[in-house]
Amino acid sequence: MLKLVVCVSGGGTNLQAIIDAITDKRITNAEIVGVISNNKNAYALERAKNHGIPAYCISPKDFASREQFNQAFLQKMQELDPGLIVLAGFLVVLPETMIKSYHNRIINIHPSLIPSFCGTGFYGLKVHEGALKRGVKTTGATVHFVDEGTDTGPIILQKAVMVEADDTPEILQKRVMEQAEWEIMPKAIDLIANDKIEVKDGIVWRK
Ligand code: GRF
Repeated sequence: MLKLVVCVSGGGTNLQAIIDAITDKRITNAEIVGVISNNKNAYALERAKNHGIPAYCISPKDFASREQFNQAFLQKMQELDPGLIVLAGFLVVLPETMIKSYHNRIINIHPSLIPSFCGTGFYGLKVHEGALKRGVKTTGATVHFVDEGTDTGPIILQKAVMVEADDTPEILQKRVMEQAEWEIMPKAIDLIANDKIEVKDGIVWRK
C-alpha cells in the first residue's frame, strides 16, 4: 500500500478528488496518511478532518527563520514516512533536501500544458491570465515529478482543455480544474501506486 502525504494551501479540491478516487477505487493500493497545509485557514484541512485523515498546519509564518520551518516540515514528513508526496495546490517552495531525499517520489499538479505558462511567477490565477493574454485556444493541466527546478520535472500526464471566447481567468481556472486536474491527478497516483510507470533520462514511460 503506497502511503501518500498530500500538501495543500487552499481549497483542497484536488485533495477531494484524490479522496473520492480512493473511495471509488479509481485509485488502488494507496492511502492518505497525512495532509500538511502551510495555511491554517485552508479549507483543505477541514476536508481531511471530515475524512478522518490526520491534518497538520506547518507555516513559515510560525518560525523565526526559513531554516527552522524547513526543519519542522522535513521532520513531520519523515514521521509520516510517505512513499509519495503529492503537491495539490501547495504554494511553498520545497526545501532542497526534501527534493533530494524523495527523488521521483514527489508529484505536482500545474494548471497549464507544460512547458507553456509555467516556471517562476506562474501560479494560481496568473497561469490562466497568461494563457488568455497570449490568446491560446487550448490550455490544460500537467502532473509531473518534482525536481530542483520550477515545473521542470518529468511529465507524467497532461490533459487539454478548450479556451472559450468569453473566458475570464476565474472561469478558465474552474474549467481546467473540473475537466483536467481532478481527472489526471488521481490517474497519476493510481499509475504510481500500481507500479505502471518508470522514469528514464527524465522521461516518464509506461511499463
Ligand atoms: C489548482 O488550480 C492547482 O493546479 C493550483 O492551485 C489550485 C489548487 O486548488 N496550482 P485546490 O486547493 O486543489 O482546490
